[in-house]
Amino acid sequence: MSEIDNKRIIIALDFPDAASTRNLLRVLDPAQCRVKIGKELFTRCGPSLVEEVIRNGFDLFLDLKFHDIPNTVGKAVAAAADLGVWMVNVHASGGRDMMMAARQAVANSQHKPLVIAVTVLTSMSQSDLADIGVNVSPQEHVKRLALLAQQCGMDGVVCSAAETEMLRAACGADYVLVTPGIRPVGDDANDQKRIVTPVDAVKAGSSYLVIGRPVTQAEKPGEKLDEIFRQLHGNFPNLC
Ligand code: C5P
Repeated sequence: MSEIDNKRIIIALDFPDAASTRNLLRVLDPAQCRVKIGKELFTRCGPSLVEEVIRNGFDLFLDLKFHDIPNTVGKAVAAAADLGVWMVNVHASGGRDMMMAARQAVANSQHKPLVIAVTVLTSMSQSDLADIGVNVSPQEHVKRLALLAQQCGMDGVVCSAAETEMLRAACGADYVLVTPGIRPVGDDANDQKRIVTPVDAVKAGSSYLVIGRPVTQAEKPGEKLDEIFRQLHGNFPNLC
């Protein structure tokens, strides 16, 4: 199982092109934070931008949420490992064999990224779950999938701040809990429904905080990130 370190912030590089991505990276310090590339930027700019960001010293979370037959997911995870990413993710609802294939792919590769699982997308409500034949509460389903992911050797899960405490208790201290929906005190929620401050997320047991627009859309992103670090340091002096 992975060791959760003190570099807790992951900046979501939710940009449509490489130029805006590079502009932000210029004001970020890879010793202080990590970065995440998701489906939009990856589909537009591809693996070469991933490699460039890693060459610049950043730990990179490749957020492509793989969900396919075990053989295909295993090979996709192996390809992500070959790119040198720090973290990659799959959908837990792809099932046991699929997650085991992801785990095995990393075990066989030279570079070993963390592999985490998405449980229930935070955009899904109880009635969305019922539509696809899941007749338990979202919380119950999240817990079930998180425990299955843990049995399959996943390093952790992506979860909402509302689920962090429950999952920390269910899955133990070393399980990686990656939490989006983070907003510094006084910031706009944008389209996030359940937001939590960086300090409260860490208090609730979150391992890594994914932060996008509060930093990427700030007038001065570097200063905004410094302010977030100040808020965190006030409560957790050991964190980066
Ligand atoms: O801009 P904001 O801070 O809301 O960005 C959050 C990031 O986390 C985005 O990249 C979004 O896709 C991602 N994310 C999320 N909710 C999830 C999973 C991922 O907001 N449940």
